[in-house]
Amino acid sequence: MSTSLVIPKQQRYICYPIQHKCIRLGGTFLATDSCSNRWHFSTGDRDSPSTHSLEPTSDATRQRHKVNWETANGTVQFYALDGETLRTAALRRGVVSPHNGRAQVINCRGLGTCGTCAVELRKGTVHPVERQIKEELRLSLLPHGGVNQPESLRLACQIQVHSDLEVIKRSGFWGQNYEELSDYNECKTFLGHLEYILDNRSPKETGKDVDKRGNS
Ligand code: FES
Repeated sequence: MSTSLVIPKQQRYICYPIQHKCIRLGGTFLATDSCSNRWHFSTGDRDSPSTHSLEPTSDATRQRHKVNWETANGTVQFYALDGETLRTAALRRGVVSPHNGRAQVINCRGLGTCGTCAVELRKGTVHPVERQIKEELRLSLLPHGGVNQPESLRLACQIQVHSDLEVIKRSGFWGQNYEELSDYNECKTFLGHLEYILDNRSPKETGKDVDKRGNS
């Protein structure tokens, strides 16, 4: 159902990542006062009020799964929507980055070509169950590949979450040091929602009723 409301232009904000209370208008994302997003920046546009339409709220009943993400500094937890890619879930929740160090800036944003979002999948169900051609190809190239590569190594941007997961992040720019856990990387989304805009598989984010770790 679509709802119409009036938003004075002085209340316009660029809002990212996109959340269910935000509104899109001509490439600019606007937020209502009730939006819980903490990244709001005024556009400085102070003309007369305008009328826009709220996008319909997406599936609020979609199942959520808990992701345990192990690092050298301990295990952190966040939730993923059913069908959400693991990389997008990590970036949206903002609890831990799927990339190590400078790879947070230099990565392919989910195209499956850079290999920096590699994680070991220890437990849980994802789709696809096995690596597909693109994922297999990237993980067969340096610095991945080789005899030491664990079979459970996956690209977080290429797998969709369908159960609670346990994953391990290894150290190195590509997460390629299979003998060593990565340090905890605080999640920084430099480009806001653009960090995962290429992901057309993940469902829209909902869930004001749970915190980032999935607790009701
Ligand atoms: S983000 Fe580049 S391969 Fe996943």
